[in-house]
Amino acid sequence: MAKLEVLRYPNSVLRKKCEPIDVIDDEVVRLARDMLETMYEDKGIGLAAPQVGITRRLIVLDIGDGPLALINPKILEAEGAETMEEGCLCLPGINVDVERSTRVRVTGLDPSGRELDIDAEELLARALQHEIDHLSGTLIIDKVSKLKRDLLIKKYKKAQQ
Ligand code: NI
Repeated sequence: MAKLEVLRYPNSVLRKKCEPIDVIDDEVVRLARDMLETMYEDKGIGLAAPQVGITRRLIVLDIGDGPLALINPKILEAEGAETMEEGCLCLPGINVDVERSTRVRVTGLDPSGRELDIDAEELLARALQHEIDHLSGTLIIDKVSKLKRDLLIKKYKKAQQ
């Protein structure tokens, strides 16, 4: 396994729309493993492929009950709404109040090609939505008003200097 470099905002790769994965080959399996390793080392609970520079539809998560890797994840159902503070490994030092659905049903494939159908609530539902957002180039700073976003970006840039 290898730790990968996590890209930081405003790297343009983070804004790309990711491509579906048609074939789960060794490269995809290795990427999922390396992403999990990277997530654990950086103490995140989720990571999406574009965050390590790969614009393909793959996310990994572990909210404390074991690793989960999901290929071509898709939200089929969503309900409820709750606002909670979130961070992102691509925006170190920034926390944003983000409104998300409280329950989602997500499908996708695991690295062995098995179809998963996940009924998620609370933190898992939130983490899934956050990571799936990354696959369309959406970041937590996009979930707030322009005024708030401008302030956050200013704070972030200052902290990065
Ligand atoms: Ni993130």
